[in-house]
Amino acid sequence: MIIVGVESTAHTFGVGIVTDKGKILANVKDSYSSKDVGMIPHEIAEHHEKVAEQLLKKAFKSAKVEWEDIDLLAYSAGPGLDPVLWKGYNIVKGWAEKHHQKIVGVNHCCAHLSIGKLWNKLKDPVYLYVSGVNTQIIVQEQKKKGEGKYHVLGETLDIGLGNMLDKFGRIVGLGFPAGPKIEEVAKKGKYVELPYIVKGMDVSFSGLLTKAQQLVERKQAMKEDLCFSLQETAFAMCAEVAERALAHSGKKELLLVGGVGANKRFCEMLDLMCKERGAKFYKVPMELAGDQGAMIAWEGFLRKDSYGDMKVNCQWRADEV
Ligand code: ATP
Ligand code: FE2
Repeated sequence: MIIVGVESTAHTFGVGIVTDKGKILANVKDSYSSKDVGMIPHEIAEHHEKVAEQLLKKAFKSAKVEWEDIDLLAYSAGPGLDPVLWKGYNIVKGWAEKHHQKIVGVNHCCAHLSIGKLWNKLKDPVYLYVSGVNTQIIVQEQKKKGEGKYHVLGETLDIGLGNMLDKFGRIVGLGFPAGPKIEEVAKKGKYVELPYIVKGMDVSFSGLLTKAQQLVERKQAMKEDLCFSLQETAFAMCAEVAERALAHSGKKELLLVGGVGANKRFCEMLDLMCKERGAKFYKVPMELAGDQGAMIAWEGFLRKDSYGDMKVNCQWRADEV
């Protein structure tokens, strides 16, 4: 079986092609980006419309497949920006009708988790899902057959870690998305104290952002030092709840997924924490950490019997699947 997956929840439009054995045949994408402003939903939707056909062609070419070879079309049904989700849905629906394909709507968050599990060949890890919008610590119920339900053990009480970095990046003029640039700039920084907020299994980043913004505005700290300290503080908060989740659940593997998982310093800190407690740390390669179509295709294969053409759901959480 060959599955085409289309990602369209936020600034990235992606087309991935995978087999039912989990082999990735193609994974191409194109992201809307802007220098200073964040994400303008209707502009992103226009961008996706513009690049969709050419990306599909590129994916087919690199996977060496034709429409006759395809068995299923999967699309990201949520969560995400409403106009962007609808644009993606309508593009995929159009392709499905034209080429007589079945379609399945999948949860974008679950897709991040599933592709990480597949890539690392894991059975039952604790997931740390850290992207733009989401910061969650998750475990999955184990079932003999099919996909078990996900449970969120802890999460951010306000903004996601990626969004916090992006907002700070905008304040200091690093553009969008700022995560990778902050990682670079942080290498030249030293530590300044920022609010460290962990409440039970939950974390909060808005106080950290406000404090960093104040220090910039009052010229009381350098950009480099704030980039370094934001990373150190926020990553340590995540490491603390991840460690607690490993301890409570008795699981021995931690898997980091989502776009912030591309950060080397974050991986280094989590790896160290895992080693110290006899657990093993896993991550996904850069090309699978952020949003892309292969994860949607794989999740579509896993959920092909649970969901069909469900249109979109912009608030759909992983633990509602
Ligand atoms: P979600 O999965 O919650 O819908 P999303 O679609 O915005 O969110 P991803 O593409 O998984 O998420 O992640 C994007 C985020 O990852 C952005 O906030 C970006 O700044 C951040 N990011 C990317 N690379 C890095 C990096 N090297 N260091 C830190 N953050 C990074
Ligand atoms: Fe994502």
